[in-house]
Amino acid sequence: MNTIELTNLPLRIAITMDGNGRWAELRGKPRIVGHRAGSHTVRRIVRACRRLGVQELTLYAFSEQNWGRPINEVDGLMTLLEEFLVQERDEILQNRIRLRGIGNLERLPPHVRESLELLAEASRDHQGMTLSLALSYGGREEIVDAARTLARQVAAGELTPDDVTEERLTALLPSMRHGAPDLMIRTGGELRVSNFLLWGAAYSELFFSDILWPDFQVEHLYQAIAAYQRRQRRFGLVSNSNTLGPCPTSLSGS
Ligand code: FPP
Repeated sequence: MNTIELTNLPLRIAITMDGNGRWAELRGKPRIVGHRAGSHTVRRIVRACRRLGVQELTLYAFSEQNWGRPINEVDGLMTLLEEFLVQERDEILQNRIRLRGIGNLERLPPHVRESLELLAEASRDHQGMTLSLALSYGGREEIVDAARTLARQVAAGELTPDDVTEERLTALLPSMRHGAPDLMIRTGGELRVSNFLLWGAAYSELFFSDILWPDFQVEHLYQAIAAYQRRQRRFGLVSNSNTLGPCPTSLSGS
């Protein structure tokens, strides 16, 4: 039983939805069957986050590296994405969800990009929850893009090298528009970050679940949130109870 305090929610949650392929393989089915089952999980987790009052949910739906998968898997994933954007459109709009894509969206096939742009445009002023779909996304690639923009500004004389600050770089990262994730969840049992939200992850709380994404239920989300709520976030500082205060004389040697 996981009791969640609504006053201490992780406002920004990011999820690496891993384990679709293995879920299908365990059933002797093609991998795309697992991705389809995973898209049903997307629907229930989006609804649950909206109900809870999460401000931003970022889903790692397709990485820049995923383009290297077999063509039929890539095509199948693109079809599922388009289906999601078309079928969920009314519910997203009714629930005042703002949908956006982050990543190298130019690489998406025109039919997916168009559905994404239409829904992003229709929902751009919504204040309910931001649903950020990381598509053709890579954390390193995102940081390199921002660094290149700053380098160009320096080369053009608009900035000096000393103007290259953490704040300026952060402002150029689409994934950081609403702030860094408070809680990052990865399903599927692997214990790695896999190029997801590298900059924002600096002080995120990480939660790894063995559950394969198609089997991930709202109760598992609550479990992750309850774990987050038991943690103490220190951001590199010390908690009050850990503060040593002035060095006692008996230890200073004087
Ligand atoms: C990783 O699992 C998952 C993906 C690369 C794709 C995630 C896509 C979906 C959940 C469905 C479509 C998305 C939306 C937003 C509707 P994997 O294939 O690497 O799993 P494995 O590690 O078991 O092989």
